[in-house]
Amino acid sequence: MRLSLRFIVPLLVVLAALAYAIVPLVDKLTLQWFVRDLDSRAGAVATTIHDPLQQMVETDNRGGILALFARITQDERLYAIGYCASSRAKPIATPTLPESITCGGLDTLAQNDSAGRLIESANGPVLASLRPLVTPRAPAGRLVLVHDMSFIARRSAQTRKYLFLFFVGLAGTVALITVAVAQLSWRGWVQGLQALLRGEGILRPSGKAYAPELRPVAQDLRTLIRDLVQQRGPQDDEQVTWTPDALREILRGDLKGEEIIVVSNREPYIHRYTDQHKVEVWRPASGLVTALEPVMRACSGTWVAHGGGSADRAVVDRRDRVSVPPEHPAYRLRRVWLTEEEEAGYYYGFANEGLWPLCHIAHVRPTFRTSDWEQYNEVNRRFARAVVDEATSDNPIVLVQDYHFALLPRMIRDELPAATVISFWHIPWPNPEAFGICPWREELLAGLLGSGILGFHTLYHCINFLDTVDRFLEARVDRETFTVTYQGKLTAVKRYPISIEFPPAPDLVAKPVERCRVDIRRRHELPLDQAIGLGVDRLDYTKGIEERFRAVERLLELEPDWVGGFTFIQIAAPTRSRIADYQAYEARVRAMADRINQKFPDAAHPPIILHVAHHDATAVYEYYRAADVCVVTSLHDGMNLVAKEFVSARDDERGVLVLSQFAGASRELPEAIIVNPYDVEQCAAALQLALAMPMGEQRARMRLMRALVRDFNVYRWAGRMLIDAAGMRRRDRLAEWSAEPEWRVRDTAGGRVR
Ligand code: F6P
Repeated sequence: MRLSLRFIVPLLVVLAALAYAIVPLVDKLTLQWFVRDLDSRAGAVATTIHDPLQQMVETDNRGGILALFARITQDERLYAIGYCASSRAKPIATPTLPESITCGGLDTLAQNDSAGRLIESANGPVLASLRPLVTPRAPAGRLVLVHDMSFIARRSAQTRKYLFLFFVGLAGTVALITVAVAQLSWRGWVQGLQALLRGEGILRPSGKAYAPELRPVAQDLRTLIRDLVQQRGPQDDEQVTWTPDALREILRGDLKGEEIIVVSNREPYIHRYTDQHKVEVWRPASGLVTALEPVMRACSGTWVAHGGGSADRAVVDRRDRVSVPPEHPAYRLRRVWLTEEEEAGYYYGFANEGLWPLCHIAHVRPTFRTSDWEQYNEVNRRFARAVVDEATSDNPIVLVQDYHFALLPRMIRDELPAATVISFWHIPWPNPEAFGICPWREELLAGLLGSGILGFHTLYHCINFLDTVDRFLEARVDRETFTVTYQGKLTAVKRYPISIEFPPAPDLVAKPVERCRVDIRRRHELPLDQAIGLGVDRLDYTKGIEERFRAVERLLELEPDWVGGFTFIQIAAPTRSRIADYQAYEARVRAMADRINQKFPDAAHPPIILHVAHHDATAVYEYYRAADVCVVTSLHDGMNLVAKEFVSARDDERGVLVLSQFAGASRELPEAIIVNPYDVEQCAAALQLALAMPMGEQRARMRLMRALVRDFNVYRWAGRMLIDAAGMRRRDRLAEWSAEPEWRVRDTAGGRVR
């Protein structure tokens, strides 16, 4: 639009100036043409009447002359006619002859050249033309023929009007043509440049040039871009302040606004019916959701997930989509529906009775059933279809999440070969011996190697994966570059330690720490100086809740002063409760809490308070801020985001984190008190150390941990993957270029390529 105005406005100004200059010129020329025309008509009239007039003059037939003149002036243009025998005579003329024309004044008229002379009469402008009338017997007289010129003024006004309209039309047409040409050529250039930047070269697939004039600069431009990219790549991760805006900038810049599709089993928002049959929105207890949700809010795009809530179907549109978050929609949630049978086989069966214990090695035997495997296959295929369905281009960036979708990357690659598939495995990857138990290990590995990038939380898990591939697949494993080449395709295996939003959402830390301390203690009928330990987990056998309780028990045995003065609050969100192992685990945890509480009957306050219930993020953060020590004793954990949440909640720089050495988070938070959860004595000692830790030391440790979570927040986690995705896309394009060198040209005549 701005471009158009820039063309049109000056053009209109120039054309208006032109019209202003041309109209008087045209007027003048028209007048001259008319004068000449009428003057020659006067000559013709004079010639025509010459003979009869001569006769009448010779016979002094005045009446005949007047009658002749009257007849001639019936022509509407010939306004008057007169005859002067001499300069002193009175003209014999029609009554219309203007008074200003006298026989004596004819000499003045005659001074004018042969053309007539314009004079003003009472009836407006007239043209007077003189013609001699030579008679043999009488002295020569003169004929004066007067033409009415008022029609010229009318014609001139009309001409001006038409000229004006003509110029307006011309201006419009020229402006339109100019703008159209400008736009087209601009677009041509832009498309050409975009094609170059995308690395498609300057040729369309059809072989037609976008902008042939760009061809000479193509090579230079590519080199320049490559240089810039090489300079930028490694700096980005280190130098960026990781915020939602920084993430958006990567999407816009490095990825040129490509679409993002996330796939996970768990959905970020669950719609459920309450007992009063109202719809309520629920946020699941899931580290994956905690991490990815802020990323999606920043990036927009589509999140494809299983619609498992009782009211999920009631709120979607006809394409099974709903915009979320409900209060400020920022991205699209596409729900995939599963039958009971599918959910039982794919989610509860293969994923959570098979892969989950297989990867966690937490002393629960994995169970693999063929029927579960079939459902797992079928559901992966269903999600692949949903991804294809949601993709608005042939090369989206698809972020596949977790062990529910090991087969999905290859399925997506088969359907959308140009897509960039990044898979992230949120749980540990075991060593080859452990993984080798799985009857479908080759299929799972081949499925995952459909990803361009495969991410794990720790280097240890990356190495385990490479070892596993090496052991079970015919693939080239490069341990220096951490890549696997399988069936001609490369997968980069990378470490991306997941994290959380930092700083946390303001409402999570709105209540002052002191207030949280008081409120939580009052709510549990504890004295205000009660020392509080906290555990926040899904009620999962990998989380080491029993081990934690044993440590509390041991602490109270070793340090009886804490009996009644220390309470451990465990928040345990029910999870996967249909699985027998989880039911048994819950029963064991409840029983152990009861047993320990009963073991100290004289305690003024219970050693353990167990809440088996879902708590929303605000409630959990209130606990984090109220606690003196937070205990994470996972027996095996990919990362564990509770550890990072506790740190992010403590803007007062107080509180101590006790952290399992088997959680990925221990690699990043060494300032926590790191424990082996299987070593009950050590854990009890860690609790004692934490409870007795001086405030200065708490602050020093907490500061370092907060700095880590601040610098490596979830935007950085996602940003690094997206930067790597952008790099991968650039390398793929480079490979295409190399495969089709510059000199390869299409022989249009023969259709051959040489
Ligand atoms: O830790 C693995 C994981 O899938 C997480 O990504 C997620 O936080 C958690 O398990 C939730 O499990 P589910 O979705 O089965 O409740």
